[in-house]
Amino acid sequence: AGDTLALTPPMGWMTWNKFQGDISEQLIMEIADAMVETGLRDAGYEYIIIDDLWQGKRDEDGNIQPDPEKFPSGIKKLADYVHAKGLKLGIYSDAAEWTCAGAIGSLGYEQQDADTFAEWGIDYLKYDYCHAPKDVETAKKRYSKISDALDATDRSIVLGICEWGPRKPWLWGREVGGNLWRTTWDIRDTWDAGSYSAGCNGIVQTLDRHTDIADHAGPGGWNDPDMLIVGLYGKGKPSNACGASGCTDREYRSQMSLWCLLAAPLTISCDVRDMTPETRYILTNDEAIAIDQDPLGEPARRVHKDGPIEIWARPLADGSWAVGLLNKHDEEAKDITFDYAMVDLEGTAEVRDVWAHMDMGEFTDSYTDKVEPHETKLIIVKP
Ligand code: DGJ
Repeated sequence: AGDTLALTPPMGWMTWNKFQGDISEQLIMEIADAMVETGLRDAGYEYIIIDDLWQGKRDEDGNIQPDPEKFPSGIKKLADYVHAKGLKLGIYSDAAEWTCAGAIGSLGYEQQDADTFAEWGIDYLKYDYCHAPKDVETAKKRYSKISDALDATDRSIVLGICEWGPRKPWLWGREVGGNLWRTTWDIRDTWDAGSYSAGCNGIVQTLDRHTDIADHAGPGGWNDPDMLIVGLYGKGKPSNACGASGCTDREYRSQMSLWCLLAAPLTISCDVRDMTPETRYILTNDEAIAIDQDPLGEPARRVHKDGPIEIWARPLADGSWAVGLLNKHDEEAKDITFDYAMVDLEGTAEVRDVWAHMDMGEFTDSYTDKVEPHETKLIIVKP
């Protein structure tokens, strides 16, 4: 919705992956405090998004109400609190009678709900697609409807389409007023879940879905490969659905690198009140974030693949390239060579390593580096 919204990928935090229904105004206020204290807000993370299971019932006039036990002071008060911290508030609904988790959805109440959200001071709506018809036409219709309803309010509200990819929303998301659209089923806290499925995907499965959809994303409308799992549970910690095994910090760094290359919305999902120093370090790498937020808004393409080795690259507004050297091999470190010709570059260029925060020097025609298993080296190549 809106012409000047989400000109760079939205950044923020979302309740679902860590808290599901275990949410409250207390939690949201503590998260807002933590976003400020940890420097996440100043790093650019702006939206705090309340996902499913915030809802109570509709009142006798049909107005949607928050669950009075979870949000006794009401959402408007909470939005005021969040705004006073220099942050924005997002909320969630569904294009059907019921949401995925069984709360009430917005079908038939689109304008009334949009008006309520605007009145509360909501800045972002994630709009899910559970219990809705499977065909593309209905999806387009239902997303247009909520988008028009948001446009008819006096607030600028980012619209996140969440139909998970089956109807290829990258082809029509922008035209129905979406600012971002999920490309995949939910991501779990794992590097590789084996195969792509509705119930269980890791970083690898999610990334794999992005080999040929870069053309459809750009300023105002973004491919959304789901939340950052950085710092969510960690390797070997009790984890979420599908027996996901958690990730190592190196794998979390890889996700951050890859999502920034993809120009993905950066939506944190770990408990930011309780981050390890490494989690905070990964999430606040200003050079990685600058790649994600580059004003050109051109998502990376996979420019090379050789077995477990992949190279992803995106052009930046200043004429340099951001390049990811990814080693998917489980045990062996690999020397990976980025050939400038892979992106029609030639001659000599300066190379900077984004995680080392170091200029590596000038290199002619190609750059080679050693990449550990499951690592993504993130470099900037400046001609
Ligand atoms: C499915 C979405 O993909 C998730 O991100 C989350 O919003 C849940 N629905 C909530 O029920």
